[in-house]
Amino acid sequence: MDQVIVNDVAPRDGLQNDPAAVSAADRAELVNSLVDVGLPAVEVASFVSPKAVPKMAGAAELVAALDLDRADFSALVPNRKGYEMARAAGMRSVALVLSATETMNRKNINMGLDQALAVCRETVQQACADGLKARAYVSVAFACPFEGPVQDSQVELLAGEMFAAGAQEVIIADTIGAGNPLRAKQLFGRLAAAFDAAKLAAHLHDTRALALANAWQALECGIRKFDASAGGLGGCPFAPGAAGNLATEDLVSLLHQAGLETGIDLAALLKVVGRIESLVGRPVGGRALPWLHRRFANREAA
Ligand code: COA
Ligand code: ZN
Repeated sequence: MDQVIVNDVAPRDGLQNDPAAVSAADRAELVNSLVDVGLPAVEVASFVSPKAVPKMAGAAELVAALDLDRADFSALVPNRKGYEMARAAGMRSVALVLSATETMNRKNINMGLDQALAVCRETVQQACADGLKARAYVSVAFACPFEGPVQDSQVELLAGEMFAAGAQEVIIADTIGAGNPLRAKQLFGRLAAAFDAAKLAAHLHDTRALALANAWQALECGIRKFDASAGGLGGCPFAPGAAGNLATEDLVSLLHQAGLETGIDLAALLKVVGRIESLVGRPVGGRALPWLHRRFANREAA
């Protein structure tokens, strides 16, 4: 059966901008509970400046608390220093972050596009030389909160640069949730034709309630790797207007209804969403959560 790999980014994208401050120990516990319910991949932390993103402090401590053989764990790194810190912590997979526009790179990592491209290229090459898996985000792939719509050709160019540098995977990120199914079909169709679709991933935000519709278009284009965030947590502190990520429970619900295999126990995942609620101190959850709760409650009662 067709298999889809879901990478849960709640511990990183989900919590980096959350009003709640969640300790590294609690974030490590969240990572473990995601793996317990079948998530094959989790983005666990970011090795970034604690001045820029205070909520991600303690990345090395978090990684030290994990059994790195349990799943495909990755960490976001914005520059060479972050890469070295991630490697020293024992990470085997790193994710570089390259935004498609000049202004977004400046706001996010204080580099222009050319410099960001050079740093990402060198860091990907270094990761490959060190035997680590290198993933690269191409962020604001549909639109930039500062510069507006992004051309598909620009996304293709940057993805090509990252593959040429040796990236094993390129993640196309709709950072502010500006995509729609028509544009998603065009962009993912174009990228799947230009590159090996098995090496592309989609990272979608649900700002306009279109993340699932966009995910379906990506699936139709042959994409089989998705980022999602349990509970729909998420948002970038440097991208105004970014709402939560596509909720893992919504995505997995869609995939299972479509007959696709994920290895994830959806009923058990709902319990992790409940745990996230207690960590952040407020209700969270994807759009299908009330229905999913009823569905599994009925099944247990039956
Ligand atoms: N991790 C931790 N500290 C870092 C770091 C990293 N990856 N890179 C740089 N620093 C430290 C430097 O050592 C320096 O510390 P000091 O003030 O104690 O001397 C300080 O940060 C400034 O270093 P500099 O290289 O001038 O960085 P900057 O101020 O230009 O900021 C980034 C660049 C990339 C470090 C910062 O913008 C950042 O961390 N961005 C994260 C973006 C992010 O996570 N976005 C959300 C996900 S897409
Ligand atoms: Zn995101």
